[in-house]
Amino acid sequence: MLLKTGTATPRATVPMRRRTRGLLALAATAAALPLLAQSPTAAASTAAAARAEEIVQGQCLVCHGAEGESSSPAFPRLAGQNAGYLARQLADYQSGKRKSSTMQPMVKALRAEDFMALGEYFATRPTHAHEMQEPQLAQAGRDVYVRGNPSSGVAACATCHGAEGHGSASLPRLAGQHAQYTERQLRQFHQRERTNDNAVMQAVASRMTDQEMKAVAAYLSGLK
Ligand code: HEC
Ligand code: HEC
Repeated sequence: MLLKTGTATPRATVPMRRRTRGLLALAATAAALPLLAQSPTAAASTAAAARAEEIVQGQCLVCHGAEGESSSPAFPRLAGQNAGYLARQLADYQSGKRKSSTMQPMVKALRAEDFMALGEYFATRPTHAHEMQEPQLAQAGRDVYVRGNPSSGVAACATCHGAEGHGSASLPRLAGQHAQYTERQLRQFHQRERTNDNAVMQAVASRMTDQEMKAVAAYLSGLK
């Protein structure tokens, strides 16, 4: 444009060597900026997040999906699940405290610092609305969820897992989970096959009937 109009500004007359040096200095400053802006701990957590993503792409995606939206009802959805809860489950699979012939080999080579990074990865994936399984049955499931069963002593799920099933920092999210997975976990607690819950869920599930487990699992599948 300067050449076209022929009106050279003072800037355009700066000798080439000086201009290049100026540009190089500018480029060097720009390259240093991300380093200056990031503390060592932030850099470490970025590295952990990158490693978590690599692990997910390489090993977890087949069953849980890259975004934690597993497509098969046999595999739990992990999107939006609480990071601390997820990290503890991975540690428990590794130590054998929680048993699963599928998950045990998956976590074998993971390092302790991967657990939280993977937890954060899935916790920050967006959740989606899902169709409620067996709407008729889900109606009865809602009662169990909100009120429990006073006559048999089943505690109301909502008191711990929250009115919307979103859980808390230490309690798992149940909303939107595949009914088949939820039901299977309840049965495992009931039969004392899942033993990493400090007996809290065992006590709850031990009083539940098959029908109540099915119903509450159906209800939870449709919560967002
Ligand atoms: C071959 C399929 C498969 C692969 C691959 C797989 N998982 Fe799983 N995952 C499962 C199944 C099945 C369960 C339920 C096991 C049970 O009943 O305890 C599960 C459970 C989990 C749970 C517990 C969820 C909850 O709500 O308590 C976490 C966390 C998890 N997987 C994370 C991972 C991560 C991280 C990877 C990759 C390193 C991975 N999984 C790879 C099948 C798989
Ligand atoms: C007193 C508190 C409390 C009550 C009441 C309670 N839960 Fe839980 N629940 C927990 C805790 C704690 C865990 C986490 C166990 C662990 O760390 O493995 C859990 C875990 C679960 C899981 C496993 C989640 C997963 O992703 O694998 C399911 C399913 C579940 N609860 C369903 C229910 C249902 C359904 C009810 C009501 C009938 C209920 N809970 C009532 C405390 C409670």
